[in-house]
Amino acid sequence: MITASMTNAQLAPNDNKQEEKICSLISQMTLREKVSLLHANAKFYVPGIKRLGIPEWAFSDGPNGVRAEINRDNWAYAGHTDDSATCFPPGTTLAATWDPKLAYERGMALGEEARFRKKDILLGPGINIIRSPLCGRDFEYMSEDPLLISKISVAYIKGLQSKDVAASVKHWLANNQEEHRDSIDVYMSERALREIYLPGFKASITQGGAYTVMAAYNKFRGNWCSENEYLDRQILRKELGFKGVLMTDWSAAHSTVKAALAGLDLEMGTDKKDYDQWYFADPLMDAVTAGKVPMAVVDEKVANVLRIMMKTKMFDENHREKGKMNTPEHQQAAYNDAAEAAVLLQNKGNLLPLNFNKLRSIAIIGDNATRKHCGGGLSSEIKALYEITPLEAIQKKFGATVKINFAQGYEKQSTFKEGSNAGQANADKVDWKLIDEAVKVAKESDVVIIFGGLNHDFDTESFDKINMDLPYGQDVLIREVAKANPNTVVVIIAGSPVKLAGIVQRVPAILWSWYGGMEAGNAVVDVLSGKIDPSGKLPFTLPVSLDQSPAHALGNFPGRDLKVNYEEDILVGYRWFDTKKIMPQFPFGYGLSYTNFVFGTLSTDKTVYGKEEVIQAKFTVKNTGSRYGAEVAQLYVCDPGASVLRPAKELKAFQKVFLQPGETKIVTLNVKVADLAFYDESKKDWNVEAGDFILQLGNSSGNISQTLKIAVK
Ligand code: BGC
Repeated sequence: MITASMTNAQLAPNDNKQEEKICSLISQMTLREKVSLLHANAKFYVPGIKRLGIPEWAFSDGPNGVRAEINRDNWAYAGHTDDSATCFPPGTTLAATWDPKLAYERGMALGEEARFRKKDILLGPGINIIRSPLCGRDFEYMSEDPLLISKISVAYIKGLQSKDVAASVKHWLANNQEEHRDSIDVYMSERALREIYLPGFKASITQGGAYTVMAAYNKFRGNWCSENEYLDRQILRKELGFKGVLMTDWSAAHSTVKAALAGLDLEMGTDKKDYDQWYFADPLMDAVTAGKVPMAVVDEKVANVLRIMMKTKMFDENHREKGKMNTPEHQQAAYNDAAEAAVLLQNKGNLLPLNFNKLRSIAIIGDNATRKHCGGGLSSEIKALYEITPLEAIQKKFGATVKINFAQGYEKQSTFKEGSNAGQANADKVDWKLIDEAVKVAKESDVVIIFGGLNHDFDTESFDKINMDLPYGQDVLIREVAKANPNTVVVIIAGSPVKLAGIVQRVPAILWSWYGGMEAGNAVVDVLSGKIDPSGKLPFTLPVSLDQSPAHALGNFPGRDLKVNYEEDILVGYRWFDTKKIMPQFPFGYGLSYTNFVFGTLSTDKTVYGKEEVIQAKFTVKNTGSRYGAEVAQLYVCDPGASVLRPAKELKAFQKVFLQPGETKIVTLNVKVADLAFYDESKKDWNVEAGDFILQLGNSSGNISQTLKIAVK
């Protein structure tokens, strides 16, 4: 019994043996045994079949670390004392590094920790497109740009799976808001699907080789993602050739027969105590018996499950990664992510880096100077082994020589409540008593650093932000403090866009340092002090105000009557801003450095290309300053003569280049001509139209320093 999915030519020769073993195991199973592999019997476990030597399957959240152990039958933490883990920064932070190497290293570290904790699947990475600044899960996701997502995600998955742990790319597909997430019905054009929302998943599967995919809660064009024939059967299986496991998000199954036929393999998290009553339990057996689901369909699912178990060496424990936990290397990797992600937004008069050796006193102000974030955000929360706050790091590194004057400045007023943004209700409260105290310490200090931004009452799974404002009167606090001491640096700790219009004119320096994981404080202080050069770049556009942002400008977020139509189409993020010539606060890809870089002349290997060819774009990058640093060279393309609307810019390649002072490196960026295509709805296929294309080289979507015309024939 070799089914179509198993005879696919993509199987490596070695896989034939594996497929034979799968067939042999399946042939020995009763229907009940088969079905037992297709649904969980605990929050994060799928039972094994002892008599056939099939082990239990262990899952864990999430993208930033191995989550603390949860009870088998409810969501409470199990109270273990040995499940504190390395906590990496979340998705937007990782993407802000623009450094796939770090994503690979993180993947390996996560894989080692997952194996140490005896987990087989780690539920990440989360790679949905950042469509609106308000989506609660923006911080977990990576970017508004499909190429940046793809590069980071592929590296992450390869690193993780190299340690015999399966990734679960989530959430398939279009989980771009948390509002009504389990009932919203998403509509988008086929072109937007192909050009914007699908590429990250496609790359994760076809290049990253992701072993599992998690179906989102929402509907897509009228059908739940977990039972969506078009997404799950047509695209995922047939077009992308996915041979792994498609599982539901937790409690995202809605049917037996429809889901089974559409291609779902595994039901997780359903909210029914009796596991036998789950859709893929007794009801699936009944459906097979009644002839509504062919046995071959069940066999295909079981084969997918066994295949991933084998790929992660679950049948070969002797040769499987043993894992390790909380090593200095893992902590260093977490630090590197945070340090390389910091984005210097503004630095008037070169106030940064601060020379702590010359400072006598410094005012540290703001709730985020002392707040720990690793334990927030819901499914991505981590019981971190430790978490260094910015204040702790400053005290440890400079406390002996610099007088540190701390003031609270503003206070968290909200209380997190799952599934409700009621917790954001008091976010506009201004506390003048705290502001007066902050102004006093600002006056007494040489320099001020305000640690502001958001926390996981805002950036979280299960609801969206109400607005883009800095909460708890931070605008007023920053204004008053900056009046008292012009040497004021603002550090924004947040994982999604916030409005900076009220502060950019008031302070000379702004550093966006994201949620930084367990090493957050050490990393941000090393950037502030100049030990590390800021080299992060914004992975999303920072609008001046929400109404600039495409989904909001067109009034289609979060939808109406449980439907949302992505009218902005392919014009997501900078594609919208640049095409419509709207000036954001800070553009996609933007970030300053303490040193300076110059790009040499951009050239290509040819001027006219055939459709099967690869464009080699070549240039130099020189560090003309006096410090070590890194620049991200970004190559955008536009197709001015296209027969359809095309964005003014689309990112087609990038590279982070590390340079000593005075050093020059030659960079070659390769772009396949095929990747210049748009999705042509009339042909239902990709289409590269002959004609001129403009290559645009810069260090952000808003700063193109050179353009070069090439032609496609
Ligand atoms: C989230 C998933 C997560 C799962 C298990 C769901 O609520 O959407 O991302 O992996 O829970 O905790």
